Amino acid sequence: MTAQIIDGKAFAATVREKVAGHVARLKADHGITPGLAVVLVGEDPASQVYVRSKGKQTVEAGMNSYEHKLSADTAEQDLLALIQQLNADPAVHGILVQLPLPKHLNEDLVINAIDPAKDVDGFHISNVGLLGTGQKSMVPCTPLGCLMMLRDYHGSLSGMDAVVIGRSNIVGKPMAQLLLGDSCTVTIAHSRTKDLPEVVRRADIVVAAVGRPQMVPGDWIKPGATVIDVGINRIDAPEKGEGKTRLVGDVDFDSAVQVAGAITPVPGGVGPMTIACLLANTVTACCRANGLPEPEGLTA
Ligand code: GUN
Repeated sequence: MTAQIIDGKAFAATVREKVAGHVARLKADHGITPGLAVVLVGEDPASQVYVRSKGKQTVEAGMNSYEHKLSADTAEQDLLALIQQLNADPAVHGILVQLPLPKHLNEDLVINAIDPAKDVDGFHISNVGLLGTGQKSMVPCTPLGCLMMLRDYHGSLSGMDAVVIGRSNIVGKPMAQLLLGDSCTVTIAHSRTKDLPEVVRRADIVVAAVGRPQMVPGDWIKPGATVIDVGINRIDAPEKGEGKTRLVGDVDFDSAVQVAGAITPVPGGVGPMTIACLLANTVTACCRANGLPEPEGLTA
């Protein structure tokens, strides 16, 4: 028996439909259109692709998209001034500053200048603290997407053993907080973990978020476990022809799919959920800003 494939692409489409439905109701019943501002500093090609995709999906969901593209040598004061302007703009409900920023800019300072209520990335120190103490917060998009897929597949996660591989502020740490919030027994593993295979073998849920291609083989997975692969790694694919590449996750899919109960593929798993959750967070921020009930099924 091979694992059930968790189709993140299809799931993301249902999240976007829900978002579009909420947006339509906000417009019809309250005359409010949610707005998302995305700030891109510099010309990093991968970031340009992401920002274009975010803008397109924002508009497709019926929301307003405001793109601010600044040159790579933008002064910190000018970026902070733009953030203050967006904080004060009632048409802007969500603000996202695309990372990484050019080296001369202090990322922590910039992120923490965003109004926490508009911080749709959930990176502001206030949101980190609110999530850690189980209070209402903005939740980082990638872990939120993983949580939605896990809840959809399992229903309740209560009492399950979860192992998160990776301790980043963007994925690993908030993922662990969300799983704890859903009453999992949570282990955060990382590069210094002793006997990682043994730690992973205990897990009913494995979330791999380290950025190392195919580092988790199938024989680390407990039979029947659910595997969420956050990694997006480009590797050489000589079998497709000279100079060709392909995307793989942090999990060795071909061996893991033989052992797991359910698994997300790469591409088409976690990836599409991230922008869908960004749209969800924007609607959530808009509802909170207007004292309206939060959209059901789109929050942690
Ligand atoms: N760069 C890569 N991923 C992300 C993300 O989720 N948010 C932001 N702001 N920048 C990123």
